[in-house]
Amino acid sequence: MASNNAHEKVEKNIGLMIILVILLVSIGGLVQIVPLFFMQSTTKPVDGLKPYPALELAGRDIYVREGCYLCHSQMIRPFRAETERYGHYSVAGEFVYDRPFQWGSKRTGPDLHRVGGRYSDAWHKTHLINPRDVVPESVMPGYPWLASDDLDASTIVAKMRTLKDTFGHPYTEDEIKNAPEALKGKKEIDAVIAYLQGLGTAIKPRK
Ligand code: HEC
Repeated sequence: MASNNAHEKVEKNIGLMIILVILLVSIGGLVQIVPLFFMQSTTKPVDGLKPYPALELAGRDIYVREGCYLCHSQMIRPFRAETERYGHYSVAGEFVYDRPFQWGSKRTGPDLHRVGGRYSDAWHKTHLINPRDVVPESVMPGYPWLASDDLDASTIVAKMRTLKDTFGHPYTEDEIKNAPEALKGKKEIDAVIAYLQGLGTAIKPRK
């Protein structure tokens, strides 16, 4: 039969097979990816979402610098086991001011997307300096230098301006102008804690 011959040709010709596999995977990819470009819900912020205030933005950069995302995801999946533990599942509209997003792909520690408000600032401070002081069995490394290093305020204005001008984050001129003031006299740990306390709070936890 003709169709069998065609199939045989593909199976015996690895070059042709490679081309057809690439074609098939590309079509599959496009079918999944292209609709996202036209979906408002992936680009529209959820109600109440604001771009990161200066101190939280600075803390976010330290979170990235220290590689916290290597052990912590920020993406709660819509499964019962996750929502019972962490709270409302993550929705796309919560991440529109995250550049780059911190979804992560590995959970050595718990997901942090709704950690905002779960602990006190003092708890976070103790925990970040030496996690075993509050969670004896913790394998998280300590970050004691965050408590002693001064927060660098020299780049915050340029950062916020770039986010506003290039990506359209709705910062006001006053927010940008007052940013260095908001960072003044702070330690790096203050910024990280501010960032953690704001995480996932645009959508309130269910409880
Ligand atoms: C080597 C992996 C690892 C790295 C890197 C890491 N953590 Fe953790 N983290 C953990 C583990 C494991 C836990 C659970 C035990 C505990 O609470 O200490 C945890 C717990 C936490 C918690 C408490 C979460 C909750 O819901 O109880 C916070 C907040 C946290 N980490 C923040 C950070 C921050 C901020 C950084 C980067 C400065 C960081 N972690 C880096 C492994 C890690």
